Order: sequence, then C-alpha cells, then structure tokens
Amino acid sequence: MINFLDSTDIDPQQLLVLFAQTDWARDRSLEDTKFMLAHTDVTISAWDGPRLVGFGRVLTDYVFRASIWDVIVDRAYQDLDIGKGIIHRILTHPTLERVELFWLCTRRYQGFYASLGFSDKEQTGMVWDRRKHIPPAKT
Ligand SMILES: CC(C)(COP(=O)(O)OP(=O)(O)OC[C@H]1O[C@@H](n2cnc3c(N)ncnc32)[C@H](O)[C@@H]1OP(=O)(O)O)[C@@H](O)C(=O)NCCC(=O)NCCS
Repeated sequence: MINFLDSTDIDPQQLLVLFAQTDWARDRSLEDTKFMLAHTDVTISAWDGPRLVGFGRVLTDYVFRASIWDVIVDRAYQDLDIGKGIIHRILTHPTLERVELFWLCTRRYQGFYASLGFSDKEQTGMVWDRRKHIPPAKT
C-alpha cells in the first residue's frame, strides 16, 4: 500500500534517488537538496513502507499564487495513480485552499496534467537561468 505524507521530514538521500531519474534534477547535491527541503512551503511524498517512491512540492504565498515543482514518481511505481495522488493532495491541501492559481511547467506531460484540470492555453512563462548568465567561479 502507498502512503502519502505532507511532512518535510524526508531523507534527502532518498530524494536524490528520485532526482537521478530526471533530466532537470539529476545533478543536484545533497547539501542543496537539504536546503531546498527546509525552504519549501508544502511537500507531498509517497511511500512504499520506508521507500520514497513519489514526490512533489509547492512554493506559494498561500493566497494568490502557488507553483508546483519536482513532481516525480519512481520509474518502478509509475502508472499506479501515485502522480495523480500527489497532485490531488496538493490541490486539496488545507493550507493551500485559498490559492487562486496553481502554476507548473512541463515539457512532456501535458496530457497527464490536462487530465487533472490544468490548461496550457495561457503559456506566458519565461525563465531566467543563472547558469546561462554567470560564468562558473575560477578554481
Ligand atoms: C509524470 C509522472 C509524475 C506521472 O506519475 P504516475 O504515477 O506515473 O501517473 P499516474 O499513475 O498517477 O497517472 C497515469 C496517467 O497519466 C497518463 N500519462 C502518463 N504519462 C503521460 C504523458 N506523457 N502524456 C499524457 N498522459 C500521460 C497515463 O496514461 C495515465 O492515464 P490514465 O489514468 O487515464 O490511464 C511520472 O510519469 C513521472 O515521474 N515522470 C518522470 C518525471 C517527470 O518528467 N515529471 C514531470 C515533471 S513536470
């Protein structure tokens, strides 16, 4: 049975195992991941016993806007409704019930998010990537 938790008490080492399965988060360090967990507003995690098998997180002002990041389900556990469970628990989370608009970006999973009510009709997103603007420090 899969259990869903909203505690930020997650072993960052286990999260790195999920991050390693993505193209955008695979190079994240343990130290940065710990820092991220301490500064994230809401996290939802999915567990098979002691094993972290799914994750998603939210940054928000709790009233106008919330953005959803790093939604990942372990490859061995995909297509078992865990991803939907994570998004459902975010959208219905008691601390987020006043939030007017949830935003996320996805390259390949538009169909998945559309089935959960997300729209891609207003694509206004732009990004500024520090890695593309500041040269790496000299060592
Ligand atoms: C996207 C992801 C979170 C979905 O989680 P999941 O637990 O496998 O999904 P669920 O089992 O809850 O839902 C599966 C449904 O999504 C659909 N789906 C999965 N991938 C899809 C895709 N690329 N496009 C459209 N629909 C998709 C399935 O067909 C299924 O639909 P159904 O319920 O009508 O049969 C998971 O595939 C994942 O972690 N992918 C790799 C990480 C990633 O790229 N995350 C997206 C970040 S934006």
